[in-house]
Amino acid sequence: MKVLVIGGGAREHALCRSLSLDPDVTSLHCAPGNAGIAEVAQLHAVDALDGAAVAALATRLEADLVVVGPEAPLVAGVADAVRAAGIDCFGPSREAAALEGSKAFAKDVMAGAGVPTARSYVCTVPQEVDEALDAFGAPYVVKDDGLAAGKGVVVTGDLETARAHANACERVVIEEYLDGPEVSLFAITDGTTVLPLQPAQDFKRALDGDEGPNTGGMGAYSPLPWADPKLVQEVLETVLQPTVDELRRRGTPFSGLLYAGLAITSRGVRVIEFNARFGDPETQVVLARLRTPLAGVLRAAARGALDDLEPLRWSGEAAVTVVVASHNYPDTPRTGDPIEGLDAVATEDAPHAYVLHAGTKRDGDRVLSAGGRVLSVTATGADLTQARERAYAAVGRIALDGAQHRTDIAAKAAADA
Ligand code: AMP
Ligand code: GLY
Repeated sequence: MKVLVIGGGAREHALCRSLSLDPDVTSLHCAPGNAGIAEVAQLHAVDALDGAAVAALATRLEADLVVVGPEAPLVAGVADAVRAAGIDCFGPSREAAALEGSKAFAKDVMAGAGVPTARSYVCTVPQEVDEALDAFGAPYVVKDDGLAAGKGVVVTGDLETARAHANACERVVIEEYLDGPEVSLFAITDGTTVLPLQPAQDFKRALDGDEGPNTGGMGAYSPLPWADPKLVQEVLETVLQPTVDELRRRGTPFSGLLYAGLAITSRGVRVIEFNARFGDPETQVVLARLRTPLAGVLRAAARGALDDLEPLRWSGEAAVTVVVASHNYPDTPRTGDPIEGLDAVATEDAPHAYVLHAGTKRDGDRVLSAGGRVLSVTATGADLTQARERAYAAVGRIALDGAQHRTDIAAKAAADA
């Protein structure tokens, strides 16, 4: 099978790594990719938001399967363009990707499907904003309706901050605050059959102890020793399957990766958000534990044939990933710094720990930082404690001027396990 992956972050590196280990994959391509992905896939330049260009590339490569990683191309309809060219594509249509692209649409689908989520109002004018903030009280949760690359959500105890964010957006969703730990649960679906993956937890704040600004994610781990063993089945029955069924009923079937961001509250599981693609950095730890070869699963989803698949097989090991971010991330990250120590990780820490590249690029013999999140160091172990030790040992070998990482990824879960 010839596979083309669209994107160029650590999530796509994790996908490409798994695909490169799959005996069914005869050639692997990625566009645009990054310096790390170049070691396992052939890279191509493409405007990932241009469906016609992606479809033309896939046709030229005679790809059997295209996997679209990030949300922006999905919301732009890239999967539709690939399918229109007669090529199997893993990723939802533009209409179904609105589940991530519009928070108001997601709320409407959840209401139709009876899926538990925070109570909310959609507001467009200041008076509605004030009424909604007043109705829920502090802490305030204000979400830009559209895609905002992780910057659209403000959770604050300060009324003026909440009001200012709401009024800076064209359309906002204001909702009740959900307390309790967060879980990310991914499911692969073909629009009818839903195959949940293993749950993971990510760390969204920049600094240890969940301090500092929100980021795209600073680390993740799986499994969750503290979670109820029945959690996955419960979420399948109350969240994932009803959502997939509702979208199919509406004539916009969702095939691809359905990402449920959940809060485990004292009153039960609630959906915080849906995404229409693999999450980053959770993908790094979930795929580290998946034993079933990936390509066949993704192609079965693209073809509407998930029902024929054997149950997924999982490693009993734990996985931890630690994101190394550049100086000043997430504000105005500095790029262009050389990254040292990658070879040391490859010789000292493999195969239990390895580096997945996010924002990197090659410059002759050197690898330079090229984005806010630069690397995701992923490790497996018999338990979270060992996976953590291995991940942080590898992080310690990497030198990047001004780099930052959290030191407490999976620490609490490992200690409590
Ligand atoms: P989102 O972009 O929807 O994932 O939101 C980013 C983060 O904001 C989430 O991971 C939560 O930590 C927080 N958040 C979003 N909605 C709520 C809510 N209703 N109650 C509490 N925290 C929330
Ligand atoms: N881990 C959060 C996200 O991918 O949106």
